[in-house]
Amino acid sequence: MNILEIEHCTVCYKNGTPAVSDVTFAVREREIVSIVGESGSGKTTLIRAILGLLPPGGRVTAGKIVFNGTDLVTADDRTLRDIRGRSIAMIFQDVGSSLDPIRRVGAQYREAVCVHEDLTKKGFLAKAHDMLTRMHLSDPDRVMDAYPFELSGGMKQRVGIAMGMTTAPRLLLADEPTSALDVTIQAQVVSQMKELRDRYGASMILVTHNMGVASYLSDRIGVMKNSRMVEFGTRDDIILRPRDPYTVSLLEAVPKLGGKMYAGN
Ligand SMILES: Nc1ncnc2c1ncn2[C@@H]1O[C@H](COP(=O)(O)OP(=O)(O)O)[C@@H](O)[C@H]1O
Ligand SMILES: [Mg+2]
Repeated sequence: MNILEIEHCTVCYKNGTPAVSDVTFAVREREIVSIVGESGSGKTTLIRAILGLLPPGGRVTAGKIVFNGTDLVTADDRTLRDIRGRSIAMIFQDVGSSLDPIRRVGAQYREAVCVHEDLTKKGFLAKAHDMLTRMHLSDPDRVMDAYPFELSGGMKQRVGIAMGMTTAPRLLLADEPTSALDVTIQAQVVSQMKELRDRYGASMILVTHNMGVASYLSDRIGVMKNSRMVEFGTRDDIILRPRDPYTVSLLEAVPKLGGKMYAGN
């Protein structure tokens, strides 16, 4: 059963050249789909369009984005607000830097989570602690008490990812959430995202530069180039039997693929 269906979707900014051209794919319940492709190919535009969070000037000019039966392109603001956060959560590339530097992490975390969920203070703290620990923030109390300016960039990013995952959304959209983290932490955070799917049955769309991450995490992979999705298929199709020359060139650029990353899954 599909939770999200993107049909012939085109997105333009003011200059009129499509940043996303005629893209079609679907995400099933409990499925992790990765979107890979070079910088500027339209990945961020595509996942921002899903939630109606395009930057000013950006607009879906054709196609449908159907979530659980509702077309998000034509949905009114109230419906979109309701779906945002409660059913679909988005983790931005720089989510860590969107924390207010002069308010304590705990207060911001609570605010973000409790907008969507009725939780007692105790219930909230238990959930937040659990999620921060899963993100390998070893002293959750200290993190919750800290001001963001007291934390490193990598710690803030992990707090942001934890916040996005705490509401256990049905669909999580993540735009290069781990790119800024160092490699060991990246692997741990990525495996937590997989666990979120296993525990809550969340579906996920993950934008990543890293073919190794895509290979480890995904059920299916979409490859974007110049605003188009040139290939979409199962992980094995894309990694072992790529059809598009561009996919082949992406895979050739990853020396270890076919070795440790893939076999490890
Ligand atoms: N806010 C914006 N205004 C105008 N053009 C944009 C904006 N954001 C992105 N673009 C253009 O849209 C295209 C796709 O960009 P983007 O979605 O950011 O790609 P990616 O995430 O794959 O790097 C690029 O040509 C980029 O220049
Ligand atoms: Mg991007």
